Amino acid sequence: MSHATIDCGTHAPLRVLVVGAGPMGRTWLKAVSASDEADLVGLVDLDVDAARHAAAQLGRPELPTGDDLLELAARTDAQAVVNVTPPAAHHQVTTTALFAGLPVLGEKPMAATLAQALALAAAAEVSGRLFMVSQSRRWNPQLFHLRDMVAQLGAIGTLTTEFYKAPRFSGFREEMPHPLLVDMAIHAFDSARFLLATEPVSVYCEAFNPPWSWYRGDASACATFEMAGGTRYLYHGSWCAPGAETSWNGSWRASGEHGTARWDGESTPALDINGPAKPLDAHTGPSDIAGALHAFVGALRTGRTPMGEAHENAMSLAMVEAAVESARTGRRVSFAAVLEQAHAQALTDERRPQVRAALERPVGSRACAGSRDGEHSPTTGAVARGPATRDGG
Ligand SMILES: NC(=O)c1ccc[n+]([C@@H]2O[C@H](COP(=O)([O-])OP(=O)(O)OC[C@H]3O[C@@H](n4cnc5c(N)ncnc54)[C@H](O)[C@@H]3O)[C@@H](O)[C@H]2O)c1
Repeated sequence: MSHATIDCGTHAPLRVLVVGAGPMGRTWLKAVSASDEADLVGLVDLDVDAARHAAAQLGRPELPTGDDLLELAARTDAQAVVNVTPPAAHHQVTTTALFAGLPVLGEKPMAATLAQALALAAAAEVSGRLFMVSQSRRWNPQLFHLRDMVAQLGAIGTLTTEFYKAPRFSGFREEMPHPLLVDMAIHAFDSARFLLATEPVSVYCEAFNPPWSWYRGDASACATFEMAGGTRYLYHGSWCAPGAETSWNGSWRASGEHGTARWDGESTPALDINGPAKPLDAHTGPSDIAGALHAFVGALRTGRTPMGEAHENAMSLAMVEAAVESARTGRRVSFAAVLEQAHAQALTDERRPQVRAALERPVGSRACAGSRDGEHSPTTGAVARGPATRDGG
């Protein structure tokens, strides 16, 4: 999707307002402060005391704070927003910012529901402002190396993620219905789309709670996604799996026509193929949320579509919703059906006539973009194309 560029000179930093002063908001405050491409100009939270406390903790007690995004954006002359509120507030905060002319870099998940995510992608189109989802684990240089290895394997039979951890969070994750699928698996699903450069067609998923689980909702899940072209993506994981834990990225194996690529999620991936391996690119850019921030600023300066742009990222949330729907019904779920249902819900819920009109336009006429090679290679958007496509994501 084309978006307005921001001319802040070749070197002038982008003036950024952070919204949300929770634990992840505080991580973002440090990342924005550490970047020489961005200036932290203010912090919004409904709880102003929490915002003031976070600013003081950062060593910036003078940082402008408030509970009203638009008022603080005007007062600080902000140029962009980083939205680190809880998922339930993502739609409202991001829409407010976009229609005030402010591009948004949002935390995952893109929204609380796929319907809201589709509405946000349409809001970005209508406002002409960039909405990018940070999706931090995509910016790991080792994942880029694994992607380059997977590309050498020829046709891919299966891609597998094992994720086994035993964290004691306390709080909302221990109470929610699908903690693993909804709060965590989106990172792996998003990485799988990136590695395979293809989109899901259908999923069968079982979610369950082992007898020893300390979670109220299902802390374990096994999902099989059929991807366009026939590759199967297998995700199995648990959040109550003590012993021999995997890394937070999980443990990966891609099995293809010419060999296998593996990654333990924290050290250099390994390639085992017939014949010589191609040399790998360096991939030296910043990782994690610093990588997302760098790509966001670059996209605003150049007009290029970054990896994580709303239309592209929505398919990662679709994978979560489809897996949960399959677990709930015990049936294989098609992505065409999940997208159709979410689209109908978005139209029912949408109150802004221009956004409704954008949602109603035939998908082919909507200019969108996703990316295989991140910020360097804009392609056609995942959501706009529908699920059964091969060459993007
Ligand atoms: N990428 C990652 O690895 C990662 C890790 C943790 C959390 N997250 C994501 O970051 C986001 C925030 O997580 P958290 O744990 O900090 O949440 P949290 O609920 O602990 O804190 C959110 C803060 O936002 C404030 N807030 C709520 N609604 C608001 C609104 N409308 N306007 C302004 N402020 C509002 C709350 O008062 C609170 O201080 C979530 O989307 C979460 O999924 C991502």
